[in-house]
Amino acid sequence: MKTISNITKGIKNIRSVLYYKQINILPRLLRNYIFAFFRINENVPAPLELQIEVSSLCNLRCEMCHIASRAPSDQTKQITTDQFRTIIGHSSPLMRVAFIGLGEVFTNKDLFQFFIHLNRQNISLFFYTNGMLLLDKNIDALIRNDVKEFGVSFESAIPENFEKIRKGAKFSTIVNNIKKVRERYEEANKQIEISFGSVLLEKSIQEPENLFSIIDIANDLSVSLVNFANVANIKESGLDKYYSDATENAKLDKLFARLQEYADIKNTRIRLPKTSLSQGECRLPWVAAFVSVEGEVLPCCALMELGDHDEMVSLYSLGNLIHQPLSEIWNSKKAIDFRRRLSSSEPYECCRKCSYYTGVL
Ligand SMILES: C[S@@+](CC[C@H](N)C(=O)[O-])C[C@H]1O[C@@H](n2cnc3c(N)ncnc32)[C@H](O)[C@@H]1O
Ligand code: SF4
Ligand code: SF4
Repeated sequence: MKTISNITKGIKNIRSVLYYKQINILPRLLRNYIFAFFRINENVPAPLELQIEVSSLCNLRCEMCHIASRAPSDQTKQITTDQFRTIIGHSSPLMRVAFIGLGEVFTNKDLFQFFIHLNRQNISLFFYTNGMLLLDKNIDALIRNDVKEFGVSFESAIPENFEKIRKGAKFSTIVNNIKKVRERYEEANKQIEISFGSVLLEKSIQEPENLFSIIDIANDLSVSLVNFANVANIKESGLDKYYSDATENAKLDKLFARLQEYADIKNTRIRLPKTSLSQGECRLPWVAAFVSVEGEVLPCCALMELGDHDEMVSLYSLGNLIHQPLSEIWNSKKAIDFRRRLSSSEPYECCRKCSYYTGVL
């Protein structure tokens, strides 16, 4: 049963990222999922999705984010247009790029050039933003370059709680910005799919009105999906006890069931993490590559939230995409070793504490 559900999940993932013009690379995409599924660690086809951290600069300081622990000189880095072109060229062919990592996408001053470059190459784009910098000129650039989807992060829709978690943010500004995006896309007669990324914190489990309020506002703003997720290391959010203690776990189950019921009534699509821990669930190092703001290729984006930036890079970097093509990096000794460990009962330390590994992200 689990096998069938994994295959179905894989096919859904593929469909969600596939556009008709890219149908010719479907067999390659399937190969990545097959290698991931059967845990074949060598000669893995280069991924068709690249996750890029385009800026390590951020206008906020959210309570659960590791950005503040980076050295000050690491909090102002930006990928330049030349570096971006090299990274994309070194990874071609690509089907999808996601701007993910620590930092706020809209602080990168070359961002519009990246949109143009991806659009010309027919590579689809997804990114997460904190929503504060969805200014007119940025919305115009999204429309001009036919960006079809992005996510906004929301941990509560109760303004004072939201602003306590997302330090430096103004709740009303973000809501108004989302409304403006909708209006401007409608005026341009174009479609935009906006989803919410919502990290679960102990406070939101203890005061569930924070979570219900997100469903309400998602409904008001015609958001396509609310993706509730655990932080990369659940010990840090304090949610580990809800997984290790049977009584607390039953509470979590009950809460998620109520949330799902409420979302169904509101006709709002939500995704919730699993409420039981498993082992060895992660397949990211087979299907997508993460590139840090310095061009370092890492097995996944979760590493940025799992420890000190420099330490993660020095321990787990597989190579640098500004200086080498992805084909040299993706099946390097280090990459094969990382996948082998992840497939074994002795994964690296980073994986052992990761919510992806235990299947609860
Ligand atoms: C790091 S942010 C970067 C994009 C943008 N600045 C934002 O906040 O949406 C990407 C996503 O990671 C989430 N995030 C923050 N801290 C996290 C953590 N410790 N573990 C996992 N995800 C985290 C954020 O809530 C956000 O949805
Ligand atoms: S979660 Fe996003 S907005 Fe918040 S501090 Fe981290 S990078 Fe900045
Ligand atoms: S288990 Fe976590 S740390 Fe390990 S590769 Fe997967 S996402 Fe990264």
